[in-house]
Amino acid sequence: MNFRQRVACFLLLACIGIFPAALPGQDSHQRVQQSSSQPSSALRKSTVSEQNPDTASDLPAWAYGFDNTTEGPRPDSPDSEARGGKDDGTLRHLPGSTRSFTLTQIRDNSGPADWYPEDHPAMPEIVAHGHKPTVVACSFCHYPNGKGRPVNTNLAGLPYSYILQTLNDFKTGARKSTDPRKSNTNVMIGFAKSMTDDEMKDAAQYFSSMKWTPWIRVVEADMVPKTRIANGIFLRVKGDEREPIGNRIIETPEDVEAMEVLRDARSGFIAYVPEGSIKKGATLVMTGGGKTTRCTVCHGADLMGMGPVPGLAGRSPSYLVRQLYDMKHGLRAGEWAKLMLPVVSKLTTDDMSAIAAYLASLDPSASATTATR
Ligand code: HEC
Ligand code: HEC
Repeated sequence: MNFRQRVACFLLLACIGIFPAALPGQDSHQRVQQSSSQPSSALRKSTVSEQNPDTASDLPAWAYGFDNTTEGPRPDSPDSEARGGKDDGTLRHLPGSTRSFTLTQIRDNSGPADWYPEDHPAMPEIVAHGHKPTVVACSFCHYPNGKGRPVNTNLAGLPYSYILQTLNDFKTGARKSTDPRKSNTNVMIGFAKSMTDDEMKDAAQYFSSMKWTPWIRVVEADMVPKTRIANGIFLRVKGDEREPIGNRIIETPEDVEAMEVLRDARSGFIAYVPEGSIKKGATLVMTGGGKTTRCTVCHGADLMGMGPVPGLAGRSPSYLVRQLYDMKHGLRAGEWAKLMLPVVSKLTTDDMSAIAAYLASLDPSASATTATR
């Protein structure tokens, strides 16, 4: 989509009149405060956030890869035990791939293992190798097929113009993370600052050319396998111990060894979500539930995206909650993120989790459309 089409789409959305109060040019933090101190009367009635004003105590730490709100950042070590430890030089294999790699090759951040080149188009240089010394290969974190992990996100299936828009927001400082311990968001910001315009276009072209297909299996449960966090990802511990899910979403690899050690871009994730959350989320997403706007208005009837607005169906629920929370707290304040402010201003953290549980449970392959530019 070119600039004029984007402007036209923006105006169209504006004319629908669903974000009337959000556009004056103030700084994002003031805007969030203003919208929560002067809510429309329809929305004012019974918001839990009024009884429980926003503080760090409602931070969904699990969505940022932490298990409580007080612990400090943990270093992300490339040869940590969770990633297979030190390389002993053995060649590793995966079923369905004719290739073999050592651990050092698998986790080379300037050219990580690409097990299944037949699963994606030829990667542009920036995606396959990054540019030394400042930009790590996009495929290292988002995977060659753009499937991504809960600590980052998928890029496959996102609209071309949205990818450029949000990279630019990272670059100008309009997009950050609420939780300063989430160091990889800062790393991502550094990449956006170091990329050339052509590299951004190459990456956006590449990832938007791929369809978004199922990658996360959502399971409602009150009791979940016990996990520990390594490098921002919940990993099941050995044995059969279970623990209450509480109000968290626990996203964990289907196969820990394949995902964490071998970086298998065909092995997806399980997301455990609290019992009843999918139904609650469906109501909020499809009707607004009296506290928000129907998401389908802008994200498309099938929630797979519309024009430059990104899709939401079948995406990582931890990522979705993180973004909703960041938007509510003014940490995503780019031109297009302003449209989301009235949407998130009345949502509690539990509402966001329910919304994310429902959205993640949708099957993107059932969609009639794919993302457009
Ligand atoms: C070291 C890991 C890492 C690498 C390498 C990396 N990213 Fe990211 N990326 C992230 C993280 C983490 C986020 C999510 C930030 C958040 O949740 O706050 C992200 C988010 C994004 C998003 C936003 C997606 C959305 O739905 O809004 C885009 C676009 C993106 N990255 C593009 C790229 C490109 C292009 C490259 C290659 C130059 C790249 N990334 C390399 C970690 C990485
Ligand atoms: C008025 C139009 C509009 C409505 C209604 C709307 N959105 Fe959005 N949404 C957007 C736009 C535009 C963006 C892109 C923001 C940006 O560029 O930073 C977005 C981005 C998002 C993102 C970030 C996606 C990413 O890849 O990082 C999430 C999550 C999201 N919306 C969830 C929702 C949910 C949930 C609802 C319904 C409760 C909803 N949106 C309703 C316009 C809307």
